[in-house]
Amino acid sequence: MGAKPGKTRDYTGELKRALGEDALHSVDTGYDHLGNIAVIDPTGMTRAQEKILARHIIGSNRTITTVLAKGGPVEGIYRVRKVRYVFGKRTSIARYREHGCTYDFDVRKTFFSARLAYERARIAELAKQDKHVVVMFAGIGPFAIQIAKRNKSAKIVAIELNRYACRQMREEIRLNKTPNVVPVQGNVKKMRGKYDNFADRIVMPLPKTSTSFLDEACEMARNGCVVHLYSFINLDALQLLIDGIKDHAKHNSYSVKVLFTRTVRNYSAKEIEIVVDYKISKPR
Ligand SMILES: C[S@@+](CC[C@H](N)C(=O)[O-])C[C@H]1O[C@@H](n2cnc3c(N)ncnc32)[C@H](O)[C@@H]1O
Repeated sequence: MGAKPGKTRDYTGELKRALGEDALHSVDTGYDHLGNIAVIDPTGMTRAQEKILARHIIGSNRTITTVLAKGGPVEGIYRVRKVRYVFGKRTSIARYREHGCTYDFDVRKTFFSARLAYERARIAELAKQDKHVVVMFAGIGPFAIQIAKRNKSAKIVAIELNRYACRQMREEIRLNKTPNVVPVQGNVKKMRGKYDNFADRIVMPLPKTSTSFLDEACEMARNGCVVHLYSFINLDALQLLIDGIKDHAKHNSYSVKVLFTRTVRNYSAKEIEIVVDYKISKPR
């Protein structure tokens, strides 16, 4: 029953009949596409409808050979999501390519979002002249590897708590020939003192709780360091987030200048993920 890569078939008619006209639009944009794997949101669908949708996805996309369904929210300290098999080849191992880099990983064991592709390219472009970069919450290393590809002379320290993700990051470093990424398995909170005044740039892609790591960012930053902080906020709460960053600076004898903000994606009906780029100035 698995569909063969490279062959496509149009299931649009079947899908229209099974899910109704309205479903078609969301079908084309509404699933996560991780190379050979698509992950659908099954909310409101029967198992039979899921299967029809999955056949449509595989039939209309040459690269997708497996369809999984979200089994709950992204949760826990490792930020992973349960998934279950729906259709196609039975695997949870994704091979995903992005901006000339390749990643292999088990979607059940680590966080990965293709929706951050633009951010990774943006930051890699900004980091071209950096000497030292810290990527906190590095996952399997997509930010770090992307930066390392563009800037071969930089040293990029990539810190990740999840053992599986960190082990996989070592594989991705080898696969993508980026030995200038240094994977560090552990908790950012326990790295204090190790990278003081080290970083020209710090990436903080843990939107749920990144603001509780401002002490660590401030310690790791050199004077002039640029921080990219990702955070979930209520739709109109950007100023609150910026005020919080400035407050932290005020109480810790450094100053910040906000350089840029951008909405990364909608997170829920009331919340968005935002990135704030800011520059740290430390007293001499
Ligand atoms: C939202 S994911 C981002 C992963 C990766 N940067 C990416 O873009 O694919 C956050 C990651 O932070 C890790 N993490 C959570 N708390 C951490 C901590 N205190 N120290 C180090 N890593 C942590 C999780 O295991 C998870 O892999």
